[in-house]
Amino acid sequence: MSKLCIRGGERLNGDVIINGAKNAAVAILPATILVDGISVIENLPNINDVSILNETMCSLGAVTKFIDTHTLEVDASTVYNHNALDECVSKMRASYYLLGALLGRFKYAEVAMPGGCDFGGRPIDQHIKGFKALGADVEVIDNVIKVSAKRLIGTRIYLDVVSVGATINIMLAAVLAEGTTVIENSAKEPHIVDVANYLNMMGAEIKGAGTDVIRIKGVEKLHGGKYTIVPDQIEAGTFMIAAAITGGDVCVKNIIPEHMDSLSSKFREMGIEVIEGDDYLRVIAPINFKATTVKTLPYPGFPTDLQPQMAVLLTVANGVSTMIEGVFENRFQYIEELKPTGAKIHIEGNRAIIEGVESLKSSHLIATDLRAGAAMIIAGLRATGGETVIHNVKYIDRGYETVETKLSALGANIYRK
Ligand code: UD1
Repeated sequence: MSKLCIRGGERLNGDVIINGAKNAAVAILPATILVDGISVIENLPNINDVSILNETMCSLGAVTKFIDTHTLEVDASTVYNHNALDECVSKMRASYYLLGALLGRFKYAEVAMPGGCDFGGRPIDQHIKGFKALGADVEVIDNVIKVSAKRLIGTRIYLDVVSVGATINIMLAAVLAEGTTVIENSAKEPHIVDVANYLNMMGAEIKGAGTDVIRIKGVEKLHGGKYTIVPDQIEAGTFMIAAAITGGDVCVKNIIPEHMDSLSSKFREMGIEVIEGDDYLRVIAPINFKATTVKTLPYPGFPTDLQPQMAVLLTVANGVSTMIEGVFENRFQYIEELKPTGAKIHIEGNRAIIEGVESLKSSHLIATDLRAGAAMIIAGLRATGGETVIHNVKYIDRGYETVETKLSALGANIYRK
């Protein structure tokens, strides 16, 4: 199994190009099931989660073809299989979108219970509540979710928790339903807007994506077309934090700067300079920056998917920082794994109290999930006294395309073995 090895202490310098958003891609691929025609998806990140979903789409009967590394043509008109029960489906969070898409088009689906990173309980009761409100029967038997409906009829659905997955899933189920569906208290993440933009380009009538009330007027069918996926907010943030921890000067390109506002404003509070352009942010960091308090929240709040990376940055800030996890019940498992670096962190419920230290020590670190893996890389970039070796790189490959190549181009001493 491959490992990433890093000799830290190099100041990152230069430009990095950000890929298409993982969390948009893993929703748009299932969404192509709703389209009566060919979808050409551009700016698709070349990551393992996309490969797995592509294989799953083919196992359902879709015909897919890579035009180039980042462009996939999907013809889902040939889908005949409505059951996604494979082991790889149950390892992925985003496989839950197959439920909404298959239900929307065929009024029937059986999908293995979704897996994904372990942040404590990750219920899908709000997805189920939405499907039921549209008229579907939902059964969960032996870790398989079965949804079926005679008709899907638009209605008002109030989400009890702001959920990215439930918002998108209900949107998928409602696009071809009869009448209008209103999702209240919906999530507002950039990838929700991106999925709505894709569906609208194919003929859907969705209004309000990006606000907390989304209105979906059902249409009879969707047509094919071409769509370019939005840049990845989390990959961009990861590189901004990587630049900052090395006291670097890095231009993060091909992004939507507004998506990064919660991180950019935190950086400025900490004394890290951020210069904004039309489609880039340049981070110019001193080696010493101030401690701060961060609380993760649904968008436009600070993203929980940048929590581990930001926590590592705070381990070398001047003073005591607090990181509050406001989205998931248990997203601090990785903190234990950081111990060998000499980071001083202790957990009090949903808070991590982080006492800044002068330096981090190189060591063997184990990635416990995707973003925790990114956080281990960030620790390795700063750590000195030998080589940092990161294990379980498979998690990182789920969501980051050629991460070591991009970091090497910025001057990091990193390689895979
Ligand atoms: C998605 C993202 C993940 C990100 C998260 C929050 C994908 C594939 N994954 O995950 O990277 O960390 O959004 O931005 O896009 N909840 C319920 N009931 C539900 C659904 C959610 O109680 O039916 C709770 C969750 O336990 C959590 C909170 O709502 O506490 C937010 O979860 P949600 O936004 O649904 O996250 P995911 O869709 O799983």
